[in-house]
Amino acid sequence: MKSSSRSSGRVSRRQFVAGTLACTAASALNQAAAAPAVSSDVLGPIVGHTESDKSALWMRVAAPGEYVLEVTPSTGGAAIKVPAQATAEHDFCLHWQVEGLRPGTSYRYRVTSKGTPLADAAEQTFKTAPDPAKPGKVRFAISSCAKEDAGSRAVWTRMAEEQVDAVILIGDTPYIDSTKLDIQTKRHREFAAVTEYQKLLQSRPCWWTWDDHDFAGNDCDGRAAGKENSRTVYCRYRPQWSFGEDNQGIYTSFRHGPVEVFLLDTRWFSETEKSYADPSKPSLLGAAQWEWLQRGLKASTAPFKLLACGVIWDDKQSREKDDWGTYMHERKALEDFIARNKIPGVVLVGGDIHASRVLRYKSKKTVGYDLVQFIASPIHSSVIPKLNTYHPNLVRSAVEPHVFLVMEVDSTVSPARISAELVNRHGERVFTYNLTLADLTPA
Ligand SMILES: [Fe+2]
Repeated sequence: MKSSSRSSGRVSRRQFVAGTLACTAASALNQAAAAPAVSSDVLGPIVGHTESDKSALWMRVAAPGEYVLEVTPSTGGAAIKVPAQATAEHDFCLHWQVEGLRPGTSYRYRVTSKGTPLADAAEQTFKTAPDPAKPGKVRFAISSCAKEDAGSRAVWTRMAEEQVDAVILIGDTPYIDSTKLDIQTKRHREFAAVTEYQKLLQSRPCWWTWDDHDFAGNDCDGRAAGKENSRTVYCRYRPQWSFGEDNQGIYTSFRHGPVEVFLLDTRWFSETEKSYADPSKPSLLGAAQWEWLQRGLKASTAPFKLLACGVIWDDKQSREKDDWGTYMHERKALEDFIARNKIPGVVLVGGDIHASRVLRYKSKKTVGYDLVQFIASPIHSSVIPKLNTYHPNLVRSAVEPHVFLVMEVDSTVSPARISAELVNRHGERVFTYNLTLADLTPA
């Protein structure tokens, strides 16, 4: 039944409508029964931001005090020890940042308290990114919109079975729908307590950004009252290396082998200021984040640059305003910037719409090459067929629950390439889409 939702070539309007209708029925059959997630005071440890020479790790403990992280090369050697203090004030969330690591190296880690091992499982390992100066390869799992239901949990297990090197979660991870400190805290705790999620991130790095439901509520923007609470809890529960700038936003970036990923915050600043691209219109990114993004793109030596955010990079064609379609003046500014600076390898990634798509925009004249957008959603069971709208530049689409993108980026081949597969919780390939750096190089 799902085959009609899977397309291997350009999608005509007729094929597209047929696929969408067929998938509505398929998705109803795929509704996973909700089952309670495991909960406990102690959460993690999990691995966060990891590059070729450093790693951030996180854990929530049950009691205040000093906790020491020990990181040792898997092949043996001296441990690097980093202490951190757990306090009630910070909800007993521990952050360790380890530096001086070697590229492409596997490490074991453990957590001790007063000399006694507290977390010392054999699975507690991570591998640093390859030397960015050399050709390399990375395999990401990327998706959005997760709950604690059985289907979402099956996705975490599948991501591990796919042996991805790292995970990127782009919002509604989890659903919170409140900016109240206690509700934000409760939901982050419940989400982090899911056994399969903890297991996945025990042995590979993860990065996150937020979308509307983890920021404040449906279709919300930066005017949401209490957004500081959402940011406080996010910063406690996410082992990022950095969170926005000047206590504003949560955007961050990282280099992993042949790719630099810019995780954008499309909530914190939206509608709070006049747009840098057109002062007669509101902003999506905000001027500070836009400056940061331009600096990062200009300085990046990575063959590929992934720009990932919660929302999609075009118009949802619904009554909701939270998409780049509402802020086309800022998307155009980005395209102009890429063209003006001749920046190769930019790829767009979005989530949010509970449908998965690939669009290849005819932007050779404006950007220098055809920009491609990947949309991956949802990890949970609730698909929204009507948001899988017709678009002349649509090249793949699927309305399928419990999915994620396996994106392999490889610069050990020439030309360097991206191979993307949309995979469901059973490991079935829903669609694939490949492109090379030659496709993303200005003419
Ligand atoms: Fe969602």
